[in-house]
Amino acid sequence: MSWTTVCKTDQVQEDFPFSAKLGDKEIGVYVLDGEYYALEDVCPHAYALLSQGFVEDGQVECPLHEATFDIRTGKCLREPADRDLHVYPVRIIDNAIQLNVTEEA
Ligand code: FES
Repeated sequence: MSWTTVCKTDQVQEDFPFSAKLGDKEIGVYVLDGEYYALEDVCPHAYALLSQGFVEDGQVECPLHEATFDIRTGKCLREPADRDLHVYPVRIIDNAIQLNVTEEA
């Protein structure tokens, strides 16, 4: 288990996910109803950061071609992306958001 702090809880808002970079991984950190989620941030379709997309109803829409994904599960809900996103474990320690990128849930 390897947990790494990427940001503080107040740096993540429902409308403004946080874009984190850990090693060669880019990860979007989201909050929904007080729960935090971490998803692969690069859209599987082409190169766009999903954390810069539009968040609504628990989904994020890719800013480039509008594929959508479920923030809680990473499930791909709309083409043109054709696979689900990797989801990473998240924990909160004293308002610090920590991710474990050695395990993909
Ligand atoms: S890059 Fe995300 S849908 Fe095309």
